[in-house]
Amino acid sequence: MAKYSAPDTHKLLAMTETLLQMSHIMTPQAQTEALQEVINFHDWRYYILAQPLISDSQYDTLFKKLQQLERENPDLSNENSPTQRVAYSISKDFPSVEHLSPMLSLDNSYNADDLYTFDTQVKKLCDRNDIEYTLEPKFDGTGISLVYENDVLLRAVTRGNGAVGEEITNNIRTLRSVPLQAHFSKYGIYRIEIRGEVLIRKDKFEAMNRQRRTNGEKEFANARNTAAGTLRLQDSAEVAKRNLEAFVYYVGYAVDANENSLLIKTLKTHSELLQMLHDLGFKVPHSPQEFQHHNSIDAVIAACEAWQIRRDDYAYETDGLVVKVNALALQEICGFTAHHPRWAIAFKFKARSAATTLLDVEFQVGRTGAITPVAKVQAVPLAGVTVSSISIHNEDFIKEKDLKIGDRVLIERSGDVIPQIVQSLADVRNGSERDIVFPKNCPACNSELFKPEKEAVWRCLNPQCPGAGNGANYPFRIQTRYGYGGFGRKTSRAFF
Ligand code: IVH
Repeated sequence: MAKYSAPDTHKLLAMTETLLQMSHIMTPQAQTEALQEVINFHDWRYYILAQPLISDSQYDTLFKKLQQLERENPDLSNENSPTQRVAYSISKDFPSVEHLSPMLSLDNSYNADDLYTFDTQVKKLCDRNDIEYTLEPKFDGTGISLVYENDVLLRAVTRGNGAVGEEITNNIRTLRSVPLQAHFSKYGIYRIEIRGEVLIRKDKFEAMNRQRRTNGEKEFANARNTAAGTLRLQDSAEVAKRNLEAFVYYVGYAVDANENSLLIKTLKTHSELLQMLHDLGFKVPHSPQEFQHHNSIDAVIAACEAWQIRRDDYAYETDGLVVKVNALALQEICGFTAHHPRWAIAFKFKARSAATTLLDVEFQVGRTGAITPVAKVQAVPLAGVTVSSISIHNEDFIKEKDLKIGDRVLIERSGDVIPQIVQSLADVRNGSERDIVFPKNCPACNSELFKPEKEAVWRCLNPQCPGAGNGANYPFRIQTRYGYGGFGRKTSRAFF
């Protein structure tokens, strides 16, 4: 039994729309309660099902609204509010372990203005204007924590709910990028907790899927979910075959044999920390492209923009970059909220997938007489453009994707590629969805449409059709439907 039934899902989606678009019609109390309920639901869709129904930026809008309301009305906040914890996903199969320090999230930024706001706040908190920032990829994998004691890997734990995770040491031991022993004592460190991300190189992931196709096995949906799922496999031998790698990027805790903290004292900067981990055999963002220093937020912003353009050239999936204050002493001054550090922020790349609603389908007549169904969707920002119309190609595509009017659909746009509908979320239907009926007659001239056997495309064969263009397009139209009879047949000989 799913935690949320289909009717719950519909109610919560409708509430989401209201909260995003017209929350002002509600009282602060009603808004707070609704936001808590809706955010818990979206956490579950994201962390447990890995099937988000809203974009990251829509989620952030809801989360920030709730934080603000709870700040302004402390009596409306309670310890069960999603602002008071991080979403969790603990399976019963692995022992639960408490992290030595909580595994927090990062605050998100989406544009230069957000980064200027972050910079202003850092400068205010540190009471100085010369801040050095580092910039590194935001790896789109699954978070882990590694604890070393006395120079050996003691345990590896998933992020879990941020406070408690699942112990997956045996599986992590199969990753060659994670040293089983590391000479921390050289730095006076007795126990250390390191944070990182487990992921699969893009080319290895594609090769794995090619192999699965050849073997007739079901392909993996995406690299992130595959990495997360693999870490929870019971069979470590299978884990070893999956090409997982671990990058590390943060130390939350390091003590000497007398339990005295060594951060700040021994290690002064984030770059020194990463250099130490690199020298000890860990995989860290290290090349000049992967790890940068900048002396101003303007330089950070320029670097973020340059990275975003070339994000596809990087060997690993990233969903953004992470900007960090380099000096650990300044990091300590900035401190943390219950949710994220104040000394770091993620710069999120423009989303490439989003969920929206298929409102209607229009049928357009192309220059060649081909009828193209075009899905009208509720406008949604996607990778830098607002999408409201998407070609859904032909009748076969509609059948294959099981599309209906009223459906919640996932759309994607990668690189310069035009947006595509990748999936209809059939499990959130409420019964009001309607089949898409292909017209029998041309929407422009009403002539009967024609579809040759073995072709997916319906065509209008009327050379005078105003929708299909006029005489200028005529020869082209005829060329493309040679041999089918109809209006163009005689003239088509001229071409073949
Ligand atoms: S630093 C105190 N650096 O993004 C928190 N996190 O959305 C320090 N992530 O929970 C985190 N790449 O799992 C940091 N280069 C990077 C990262 C990174 C990916 C993950 C991490 C975090 C999540 C927040």
